[in-house]
Amino acid sequence: MPCTVVAGGFWGDEGKGKVISYLALNNGLDVCVRTGSVNAAHTVWFEGRRYALHMVPGGFVDKKCRLLIAAGANVHVVQFVKEVEETGVGKRIGVDNQASIIEDEHSARDKADQHLKGLGTTGWGVGPAIEERVKRTAKLAKDVPPLRPYLTDVSAETNQAIDSGKNVLLEGTQGLMLSLFFGAYPYVTGRDTSASAICSEAGVGPSRVDNVLVVFKAFATRVGTGPLPGEISKEEAIERGWFETAAGTGRDRRSAPFSFELARRAVVINGATQLAVTKLDCVFPGCKGMKTYDQLPTAAKRFIERVESETKTPVSLVGTGPDALDLIDRRE
Ligand code: IMP
Ligand code: MG
Repeated sequence: MPCTVVAGGFWGDEGKGKVISYLALNNGLDVCVRTGSVNAAHTVWFEGRRYALHMVPGGFVDKKCRLLIAAGANVHVVQFVKEVEETGVGKRIGVDNQASIIEDEHSARDKADQHLKGLGTTGWGVGPAIEERVKRTAKLAKDVPPLRPYLTDVSAETNQAIDSGKNVLLEGTQGLMLSLFFGAYPYVTGRDTSASAICSEAGVGPSRVDNVLVVFKAFATRVGTGPLPGEISKEEAIERGWFETAAGTGRDRRSAPFSFELARRAVVINGATQLAVTKLDCVFPGCKGMKTYDQLPTAAKRFIERVESETKTPVSLVGTGPDALDLIDRRE
């Protein structure tokens, strides 16, 4: 493991939360660093309970894991405090001094702006908050009293952990197709979402990363407006068992079949060393809850093998159900 970056390959909601919680439970994590902001919700099913995490890193399920929020992240203070309480991680979570703050006023501006509305933003205010940061008028974590007990230097902690050979995970949010640089502009979020950007937000140089794990879902979904190649109707999605609603906003997710072309692009730009494919059970019946590759139906195996041959990258983790442990682990 030592330093692994987890990045989304499509439009977010690929199941990064599930994959991260599996790695935390199975390998043990020493440090888990969350990037991005409150617009992204990572769903983790753990001990029979569902968590939709907008701020707390998914590695919280390992009770020894140090949890950090990166300098490049945007912190929503009320949501942070609420999730810290829900997950009981107050003694082991830290926020970088220089993380910026997203406020109610940003959300109000996000919702009132006709242009942003037209893009179908989440309404959390991340675009306006980043605008302020770029203008250099944003508040930083060190300026906000409720965050005082949590302040730390995240890049220093993270690099020290890497130096001492600890298991470090850099948790990306959203997916490559929502990247400000590589997605279908303007139907994107306000930041780059690629593996390099995740490292940059955390303050970890590219030479320090051992693994880039790109997460795909066995079909694609997106919320908000903008292109979705091969999109199917809501009725069709319901029939296929692909219909989802957003963990963060409750909106309907649009869906489409897996795109090998987009997957190849996500692998190249992220520099993926390994892939995870989640929700295989939603596309190939008979996979649910399976824990070994050999148990899978032939069509499901053929799909995984095609993902590997088209991307020239091994699929090391395969999701077969919602729980963190519903997963086939093919790593050596
Ligand atoms: P914003 O990030 O709220 O500005 O929204 C810009 C676009 O990114 C919209 O299409 C949102 O639906 C999408 N988006 C932002 N965060 C997420 C996420 O975590 N999952 C899926 N879509 C997201
Ligand atoms: Mg999500």
